[in-house]
Amino acid sequence: MKINLANIKKAKNLLNKRECVAIPTETVYGIAGNAYSDTACKKIFRLKNRPAKNPLIVHYYDLKKLRDDCELNDNFLKLYKKFCPGPITFVLNQKKTSKISKIATNKKKTLAVRFPKHPVTRILLKYLKFPIAAPSANISTKISAVTSSEVKEDFGKKIKYILEGGRSSDGIESTIIDLRKKPKILRLGALEIEIIQKILKKKISININPSKISAPGQLRIHYSPGIPIRLNVKKIKKEEAFLLFKKNKINKTNYYFLTKKGNLKEAAKNLYTILRKIKKDNYKSIAVGKIPNKGIGKTINDRLLRASKF
Ligand code: TXA
Ligand code: MG
Repeated sequence: MKINLANIKKAKNLLNKRECVAIPTETVYGIAGNAYSDTACKKIFRLKNRPAKNPLIVHYYDLKKLRDDCELNDNFLKLYKKFCPGPITFVLNQKKTSKISKIATNKKKTLAVRFPKHPVTRILLKYLKFPIAAPSANISTKISAVTSSEVKEDFGKKIKYILEGGRSSDGIESTIIDLRKKPKILRLGALEIEIIQKILKKKISININPSKISAPGQLRIHYSPGIPIRLNVKKIKKEEAFLLFKKNKINKTNYYFLTKKGNLKEAAKNLYTILRKIKKDNYKSIAVGKIPNKGIGKTINDRLLRASKF
């Protein structure tokens, strides 16, 4: 992708004025604002129609500014060294001196932090004097946007500027890991747990459906395309769209495929856009075939399960 510095400057100027802009990341697009500013963070919640108690992820360029705001620990440093910048979000304790807006965290003492890899947003972060709070670009409970035109579809003129970054390469949100005590996965995401376990050299507990919700990615209804979804379907009903993992020879207009050759990463990358497409093609419900439940396939199944609670 060709990088346009004038665009990045435009985003920077708006963010400096406490406005919100949409930014590309390798996972999904985000609705970004100055994480140190109450005004900017309030605007993010309003734009997304997001409940105030659902805290925002804060995006940093590197460790330099993070050290002002959070307590770092060994597990964090190990994972940071291996995977950052990249599609992993860490929950850490904030320092008493943290400058993060209380609006961003709903006064929580913890902070979810991430170091996005997308080159456009990395340049933007490097230019800025503050980290950016950015939840996924979608209306609360709906599917995240993975292209600038999908952001436009969802937010229209409500968003002042969309920084172009092409299609998100991962296409699914970051993996969230709580590192305050014993590492614990709070949201399955674009980085496979198996790889994280290898680096920490231990099995990590998974807590993605707690009775007490600590991350709304954990909400049971989420990532919804706005129409009903049935899972693990072998035989579809009349007039349903059929979403299959791997392309087959059947050539019917109501058949949609996540991947040509059965590649899980490709399937994750295509998932949200295909769900949107089915809705646009006017189907009233979606039947989904079986999707392999390994690696990123687990994340795909997690999102589809939550979407099916619509
Ligand atoms: O890939 C991503 O992570 C994208 C891109 C834009 O970076 N962002 C994203 O943000 O998915 P969002 O807000 O849609 O999801 C963040 C999740 C929410 O479920 C939120 O509740 C949780 O992170 N979260 C935020 N702060 C937290 C905290 N202090 N403790 C636990 N969970 C937290
Ligand atoms: Mg989200």
